Amino acid sequence: MLDRFSRKIEYMRISVTDRCNLRCRYCMGDGIRLLPMADILTYEEIIDVAKAALSLGITKFRITGGEPLVRKGCTDLISNLKNLPGTEQVLITTNGVLLEDSLKSLMDAGTDGINVSLDTLDRERFRYITGFDALEKVTRGIKKAVDTGIPIKVNSVLQPGVNDDEWKDLAEIARDLPIDVRFIEMMPIGEGARYESVSNDELREKIVTAYPGYEADNRVHGNGPAKYIKIKGFKGSIGLISAIHNRFCSSCNRIRLTSTGKLKPCLCYGETLDVREILRDPRSENREQKLLRAIKESVMMKPEMHCFEEKSNITEISGMSAIGG
Ligand code: 5AD
Ligand code: SF4
Repeated sequence: MLDRFSRKIEYMRISVTDRCNLRCRYCMGDGIRLLPMADILTYEEIIDVAKAALSLGITKFRITGGEPLVRKGCTDLISNLKNLPGTEQVLITTNGVLLEDSLKSLMDAGTDGINVSLDTLDRERFRYITGFDALEKVTRGIKKAVDTGIPIKVNSVLQPGVNDDEWKDLAEIARDLPIDVRFIEMMPIGEGARYESVSNDELREKIVTAYPGYEADNRVHGNGPAKYIKIKGFKGSIGLISAIHNRFCSSCNRIRLTSTGKLKPCLCYGETLDVREILRDPRSENREQKLLRAIKESVMMKPEMHCFEEKSNITEISGMSAIGG
């Protein structure tokens, strides 16, 4: 489907839960209120939305959370999505804590790629940022996943004075392993609004200075807005997702389905379209037509660009864990 700005919308991010087994400060913080389970879409409801989306030209799905692997049956959902006619890819974004335990079922389900969030390689810092002592579990999961040959990306959010001095160690994961490492600028969404962002323009300078043998890597690496750099001798690429300092909106290809069944046209704005209402309406005539209409409408609602640098314009009030990142 094309939106009003001729962008091809072919990618849906599906948040399956707002729950998480970590408490990253900039995402959930301490005081987060969890949503009642009855408000969360069932897997059957998610499949119904996916079917409608497929018929409108969405071909790729990414499962997100909270932490998607904490919801029971998550890998069955992946398998069911994979089996829908028209699905090209089903991917997942995870914090990696349950990766090792879930790897086999993720593989069996046919998962096409795994993004793992990892902001530090230091055990104490990991505990500080996420609230849990789970670094080793995450890195073990990543290594095991790489061994299976499944495409893996690492997502890192650098914060000034917290972990920004680790950019090189994190980047060098891509030297040793065939993993793309992507640095994501902190977005002022939910708790993130209280934290500072590292500038990816400055980071890019540091990277190209430290590794003179680099080249821009213009291959499309998936569905995302990252710009990539390939460094000589590195197995993976370095990606920069510059939400704030370099708008990625012109290549936006996505729509989000939140865990409570809201279609979200843009991360920055609170406007959503409620599909749960349609899914749960006991008068079920024209349900499919209504779903199709809602998805089309949400694509047409997509704004030309976000407003992160103009914080007062941001109308999103939910946290990242409820939206799905
Ligand atoms: N800005 C940028 N990234 C964020 N994430 C969570 N909150 C924010 C934020 N405010 C990231 C996590 C994870 C992904 C799902 O979203 O670090 O990599
Ligand atoms: Fe959980 Fe990811 Fe949010 Fe951290 S960033 S609290 S791992 S959902």
